[in-house]
Amino acid sequence: MSRSLEERVLSSVKPTAEETKRIESAVSTLLLKINDYASARLSSLRIEPLLVGSVSKGTFMRNPDVDIFIRFPASLPRKDLEKKGVEIGMAVLDEPFLKYAEHPYVRGKYKGIAIDLVPCYSISDSARKMSAVDRTPFHTEFINRYMNDLEKDQVRLLKQFFKGIGVYGAEARTHGFSGYLCELLILSYGSFIAVVEKGCGWTYRTVIVPPHAKLGEKLKETDSCLIVPDPVDNERNVAAALEKDSFALAVLAFRQYSARPGLNFFFPGKVRRRSLSEIRKYIEESGHGLVVLRLPRPDIIDDNLYPQISKAVKNLTRFLEEYGFEVNRTQAAADTEVRFAFEMKHRNHPSMWLREGPYGWSPNSVNFIEKHRKNGADVFISDGRLYSETGREFRTPVELLSKMIGSVSLGADIDGLKKKIIIESDSEAVTIENLEVLSGLLFHTFPWERDAS
Ligand code: UTP
Ligand code: MN
Repeated sequence: MSRSLEERVLSSVKPTAEETKRIESAVSTLLLKINDYASARLSSLRIEPLLVGSVSKGTFMRNPDVDIFIRFPASLPRKDLEKKGVEIGMAVLDEPFLKYAEHPYVRGKYKGIAIDLVPCYSISDSARKMSAVDRTPFHTEFINRYMNDLEKDQVRLLKQFFKGIGVYGAEARTHGFSGYLCELLILSYGSFIAVVEKGCGWTYRTVIVPPHAKLGEKLKETDSCLIVPDPVDNERNVAAALEKDSFALAVLAFRQYSARPGLNFFFPGKVRRRSLSEIRKYIEESGHGLVVLRLPRPDIIDDNLYPQISKAVKNLTRFLEEYGFEVNRTQAAADTEVRFAFEMKHRNHPSMWLREGPYGWSPNSVNFIEKHRKNGADVFISDGRLYSETGREFRTPVELLSKMIGSVSLGADIDGLKKKIIIESDSEAVTIENLEVLSGLLFHTFPWERDAS
């Protein structure tokens, strides 16, 4: 059963022989074109274009992004590397535009194929890197040396599984499993199903040492869900970007998949949008409150926006709770607008609230009593701690946020749009525009629980 399931997945994610040939021939003419440009216009510089990433390793999916590095001499100043790299990209690609990671690179098309052109330094010892991308060519070398074609297909299955459950990619939006991490997992365990079986038993700080790697000294103390030393640089954790939520979801998915394998893990359906009346009914019956903040999406790329969204949610939650408005659940969404939704523990807030203070024996305990007594609060001890029953300065979360949001840090670009934030609460927040974020907030489903698409 699972054998034919795997075949079905592969048949829809593995590039056909014809597509592979088309990509390979486009890449080889593009490499020539880059060399031609450099010898005509940058004759004093010795550069070397190099195919890297999944296309170079034979682990690419259908319609891939092709990664091409342009290696510059190590003696070139960083500024010039960036300038020349961008110049070449703008000249050789169709529809080029500038993107930023650790340093600028160019994204565009060539013969209809998506290309990323990334400048980097030429170095010979992979453990002595100068910029973060300099290791990448060594990854290509390593995978091509040690991985066979059957294993490459197993990588494709694993990538699609992670894509399906939403944890593929190390970028800020997902904080999940990178392509290279998938490759090392397959090299370590042998097959997709072996990764699933072993993965069912992963716990926090699981260490996996791939063949030909060893656990670097620094990695022995690193605090990470998963620790996988890079065979080309044993002091670097390939899973460093993986965050707890993605790790937890992956282990859970492995367990559910091994009990009941299905296409729904690889190709889950969309989140079902609930109806306005369903959401209204839930809010009314639950007694919980609802707060939604929305603003126009800042004009920045996902990799810059998503870290700000997480920061904003975290800081807003902490701020609300500091003022005695307890948060139950949170959800964020970004399309043309950014939305933050908070389910509050209570819809109606008494005019007094209980504030937790320090232990009676801690240095600031007398201060706490004086400060709160001055405001007319009742102060008492429970389980060694001081508490004060205090009157609220702000009666509702909306009142608090409308007056005080200026003092909460939401990330540089979102802060710039603070004046445009609209705050809605309870039934007033239940609108068509908020349906998606509210459906996700109040009716969570795991991807594989949705019908396969
Ligand atoms: P990609 O993110 O394009 O990965 O990074 P990929 O292996 O090509 O997989 P696809 O495209 O999702 O199928 C290109 C290369 O950059 C390095 C790896 O060597 C990778 O092969 N890289 C990328 C890292 O070392 N770490 C990362 O977090 C991301
Ligand atoms: Mn790639």
